[in-house]
Amino acid sequence: MAERFQLTVNGVESELEASSDTALLYALRNDLGLKGTRFGCGSGQCGACFVLIDGYPAPACDTPLWAAAGKRITTVEGLGKGGELHPLQHAFLTEQAAQCGYCTSGILISAAALLARNPRPTESDVRAALDRNLCRCGSHNRMVRAVLRAAFEIAP
Ligand code: FES
Ligand code: FES
Repeated sequence: MAERFQLTVNGVESELEASSDTALLYALRNDLGLKGTRFGCGSGQCGACFVLIDGYPAPACDTPLWAAAGKRITTVEGLGKGGELHPLQHAFLTEQAAQCGYCTSGILISAAALLARNPRPTESDVRAALDRNLCRCGSHNRMVRAVLRAAFEIAP
């Protein structure tokens, strides 16, 4: 049975009607038109669909709407501010850290959560923070360099 849910995504409140066990990922992509969050494994294992929920990375494919309602949700579209890319996004471009790019939004989300709580991470901090994100193109080393570059730009 459909219920009404209030979601706050990237600072914007929306109301939508869906069954309470609908995955947040479908609401983001299909109802709110936020296509940056990807469907990968669909079972919480790959990180392609990560979003921030109250500041922590979580799989949108494995988060039902009832659990997302009332929380602060940030997708990759919400990382930049005022039309500017987030420093992580600049650094990913500079380091050419994406190949196919399918995993990239989830990795940016994990990296943003890391830098928010640890502005000067070591390489092993970055590797640990990205541990739940798979990249089948094997771009991890460039991504780690990009995260370290962004950290330096934010907090030299
Ligand atoms: S699609 Fe959600 S973790 Fe893989
Ligand atoms: S860049 Fe292709 S899956 Fe990561």
